[in-house]
Amino acid sequence: MRNVTQDNITQAVIERLAQTPDPRLREVVTSLVQHLHAFAREVRLTEDEWFKGIQFLTAVGHKSDDKRQEFILLSDTLGLSMLTVAMNNDKPQGCTEATVFGPFHVEGAPRYEKGADIANGASGEPCLVRGRVRGLGGEPVAGATIEVWQADAKGKYDVQYEGLDHHRARGVLRTGPDGSFEFRTVLAEAYPIPTDGPVGDLLRATRRHPWRPAHLHFMIVADGYERLVTHVFRSGDDYLDSDAVFGVRESLVADWKRQADGSYLLEYDFVLNPATARTNKETAS
Ligand code: BEZ
Ligand code: FE
Repeated sequence: MRNVTQDNITQAVIERLAQTPDPRLREVVTSLVQHLHAFAREVRLTEDEWFKGIQFLTAVGHKSDDKRQEFILLSDTLGLSMLTVAMNNDKPQGCTEATVFGPFHVEGAPRYEKGADIANGASGEPCLVRGRVRGLGGEPVAGATIEVWQADAKGKYDVQYEGLDHHRARGVLRTGPDGSFEFRTVLAEAYPIPTDGPVGDLLRATRRHPWRPAHLHFMIVADGYERLVTHVFRSGDDYLDSDAVFGVRESLVADWKRQADGSYLLEYDFVLNPATARTNKETAS
């Protein structure tokens, strides 16, 4: 087609995509083109604005490396990550809700026995965390792998400290025969997501704060159940209603009770969704 106009260009691009052999790729790219064009028409995108957008995305790419994923941060702050999590984790009533994974998980965290202190030198008030992992029918889930990671009193994860050669406030535990788990750590504190890149510039330009309410990350994996990636949030936190990445669920907010000796106690139970044929197939591939 020659003489493509602003009125027929969307159709022209979509026709060009019609030969895409992978049907899912065809569906996704076609829809992306339709929505991108509709967006440009709706805001009557100027050439200057188009170029600023290109420069912004270029800066997002330049800021990203194997330790820093600015594109994920962009997706998080635009609510795309949480939307994708919510659409793909529509679990039955009674299951623990999922939330965003975040960029601070690392492979190879140390393994700990039940009751161990995973702080490993992280700063913060002492805290005991315990609970049980159950299935939807109430059955204890024995031998589940529980991976935990969190920020310290300064609101930083171990991986954010230059030159730190050991893991702090993260670890892998297993549930006992009754599904129980227990570990010691430090109290999680609210922290700002990284703002020294283009996503930070966008937050400032849109007058948004970068804070996440205090939380503890959990990833729970057990045979016969769907993997659960979630957080437990601290009740009373100032940022519960304005999380920079939209990850808060009321069911994930818990009391971290101050004890007589000044330490904290968090008790929280998790309920896993049984794996279905769909999830078995997904994890097998
Ligand atoms: C986190 O909770 O670790 C996190 C999630 C999204 C963006 C930044 C941090
Ligand atoms: Fe976090």
